[in-house]
Amino acid sequence: MFRFVFAILLGFISFQSSADDRKLEFILKDGPQVLFEKTVGIDQMQASAAQRSLSFQSPVYNKPMAYEGLSFKDVASQAGVDFSKVEEIKFVALDGFVATWSKGTTKSPLIVVTGEQGTGGKFTDIGEGKETLNPGPFYVMTTDPKEYNNWIWPFQVYKIELNYQAPKPDYYPSGAEDKPVIMAGYNAFKSTCISCHSINLEGGDIGPELNIPKNITEYRDIEYLKAFIKNPNSYRAKSRMLTFEHLSDQQLNELIEYMAYMGSLKMLDKINE
Ligand code: HEC
Repeated sequence: MFRFVFAILLGFISFQSSADDRKLEFILKDGPQVLFEKTVGIDQMQASAAQRSLSFQSPVYNKPMAYEGLSFKDVASQAGVDFSKVEEIKFVALDGFVATWSKGTTKSPLIVVTGEQGTGGKFTDIGEGKETLNPGPFYVMTTDPKEYNNWIWPFQVYKIELNYQAPKPDYYPSGAEDKPVIMAGYNAFKSTCISCHSINLEGGDIGPELNIPKNITEYRDIEYLKAFIKNPNSYRAKSRMLTFEHLSDQQLNELIEYMAYMGSLKMLDKINE
C-alpha cells in the first residue's frame, strides 16, 4: 500500500513540473563512520558522467527493452567517492528493497539507468505481486544483462550507501569459512535473496525473516523449499517473490545448507530489542 501511494505521489510530482528534478542521495561510509551525505541532481549527473545505452530481452517485462543511463562509477566519482576504495554498496529503493553489491558480485560495470530510450526519462510500469508500480526515479543495471541472475537490479532507487569497508553482517555464517558449500550459499543469498529477506533480522523486509525464532529448515522440508524457491507462483498466485527457475539443484542445495547453518547462529536477543 505504502509503495503504491508513493508511486502515485511520484507520478504526480513528475506530472506537475516539466523540468527533470530527480535526484539521488549519497552516503559514504568508512566502516561505521559516515564521511559525508549529499544529494546530487540529475542535471549535475548528466553534466559529467559518460552516457550509456542498453538494449536486451528484459526478464522483467519479457520483451526487448532499450534504456539510456550513466556510468555509475562516474556518477559516484562526481559525488566525491573514490570508487577504487569502495568495498560494498547498498542501493535503497522506495519500498525498502535493498540491493547489496560487493566487489565481485558483478563482473560488468554498473549503470544508473535514467529512463527508457526516447522517452525523456520515463519508465513503463511493472506488475509486482498484486500491484503495479513505476520503476522510477532510477533503475540500476549492469552492462551485461546475463548478470541479472547473480544480482537483481534494483529499481525505484533513491538512495545509495557506499562503504570503504565491508563489515560482517548478522547473516554472515561465522565458523563456516572452510565449508565451500555454505560459503557459496551465503554469497548467493547475499546477492539475490537478502534484498527481500532478513536472517537474524538483518536484510530486507519484503519477504519473511528466515532464522529467528525458528529457522526455515526447522519447519519446511527440503524438497518443498527447493520447489518453492524455484517458482513461488506455483504455490501462491502473484507472489511478490521472484522466480528462480535458473538455479541448479546444486545451487539450491548451497542456499539451503547456508540457511540451515544459520540455525546454529540464532541471535534471539534481537527479537526483544
Ligand atoms: C523480491 C523479493 C524477494 C526475493 C528477491 C526473494 N524472496 Fe523469498 N519471499 C519473498 C516473499 C514476499 C515471500 C512470501 C511469499 C508469499 O507469501 O507469496 C517469500 C518467501 C520465501 C520463503 C518461505 C516459504 C514458506 O513457505 O514459508 C523462502 C524459504 C524464501 N522466500 C527463500 C528465498 C530465497 C532462497 C531467495 C533467493 C534465491 C529469495 N527467497 C528471494 C520475497 C522475496
